[in-house]
Formats: sequence, structure tokens, C-alpha cells
Amino acid sequence: MTKILRIDSSARTEGSVSRQLADRYMARLSGDVTHRDLAIGLPHLDAAWTGATFTPPEARSAEQHAALALSDELLAEVQAADTIVISSPIYNFTIPSTLKSWLDHLARVGVSFQYTENGPEGLLGDKRVVVVIASGGVPLGSPMDFATPYLKQMFGFMGIGDVAFVGAAGPDAIAEAEAAVDRLAA
Ligand SMILES: Cc1cc2nc3c(=O)[nH]c(=O)nc-3n(C[C@H](O)[C@H](O)[C@H](O)COP(=O)(O)O)c2cc1C
Repeated sequence: MTKILRIDSSARTEGSVSRQLADRYMARLSGDVTHRDLAIGLPHLDAAWTGATFTPPEARSAEQHAALALSDELLAEVQAADTIVISSPIYNFTIPSTLKSWLDHLARVGVSFQYTENGPEGLLGDKRVVVVIASGGVPLGSPMDFATPYLKQMFGFMGIGDVAFVGAAGPDAIAEAEAAVDRLAA
């Protein structure tokens, strides 16, 4: 069965445009769904986390394994997924800090990327990412949009090149975004 990972990141759990667009897309998918709602918060990286990742896996202490437990869990969800559906608002020209934190937990040398003679190589493999974004007015692809280039870069860095974006820039753009969601391949 297809595995779908859904990540929501709007702080609003009611009346969120990005969540509504993700609901619409999810209704077209069938599979086994894992859901992470980042509105409840996600810890930022800390000294214990960075210390643990700088330590080779076989040399990690029990405390260091514990410091990476959430990161391991988030990575396992991504590794298992065929499709990842992300809903995000634009906050201050980019993604919410919770979504940034989620990406920080995923970017692990030796797990999601590695350095080779030819430069960095992504390890997360063949998956599809669909990102639905709501903003108050900043259009995706405009010079004020720091969200989509960043997300493309991060997923590309981790080996995922298939990233589709749909944006609703303000209330007047919701119908158009809904139509764009409907045009996305299921
Ligand atoms: C803290 C905060 C910062 C925001 N910053 C921006 C911004 O920089 N540019 C913009 O176009 N809209 C901005 N907005 C508006 C939101 O992107 C817009 O309300 C969007 O619909 C939020 O997504 P949601 O409906 O899924 O909650 C901001 C809203 C909040 C609450």
C-alpha cells in the first residue's frame, strides 16, 4: 500500500487555508497515512543533538542515542513514505520555524545525505513531495518568496527532486489554488 506522510505547519488549527488545501489533496490520495501536526511544536536542535550527530553512530552513548530519538523517528517517517504532503503558511516571507525545525531534524549526515568525492549526495531516495502554501499576499516565485527556493534546496540536498508547489496568495487566490490542487497527479 502507498505510504503517505502528511505534515501540517500552520499555527492555526481552525480556518487555515494551507490545511484546507492539504485536506483537498489528501482526499484524492489513498494509502496508509501518517500525520505530523507541527502546530504542537517541535524542539529546536540543541547541543546534545549536534554533539550526537558529530559522534559516529557506533560510538554514541545512550544519552546521545536518546538525543537523536525524535530525529530518528521523523527520519523513519520520511524514509517510509512514498508521498509527502506538506501544508505551510508563509510567516515573515518564509516557512514557519516549526517546519524549519522539522527539516533540521531530517538533515543528518550519513542518513539523509553524505559527502562524496563529487560533492554532497542525497540519500532519501525516490519520493514525491507536494507542498501547499498559503500567504497573505506574497506570490510563490516572487522575490519575496523565500519559502519555495529553500524547500527545493533542502529536499534536493536530501535526494528528493520531485517537489511540486501550489500557492494561494491571499483569499482571492484560494479558488485558483484549489483548481491547481485538483490538477496535481494523485
Ligand atoms: C506570524 C505571521 C506572519 C506572516 N507573514 C506573512 C508574510 O511575510 N507574507 C505574507 O504574504 N503573508 C504573511 N502572513 C499571512 C499568512 O501567510 C496567511 O494568513 C496564510 O493564510 C496563513 O496560512 P494558514 O491560512 O494556513 O494559517 C503572516 C501571518 C502570520 C500569522
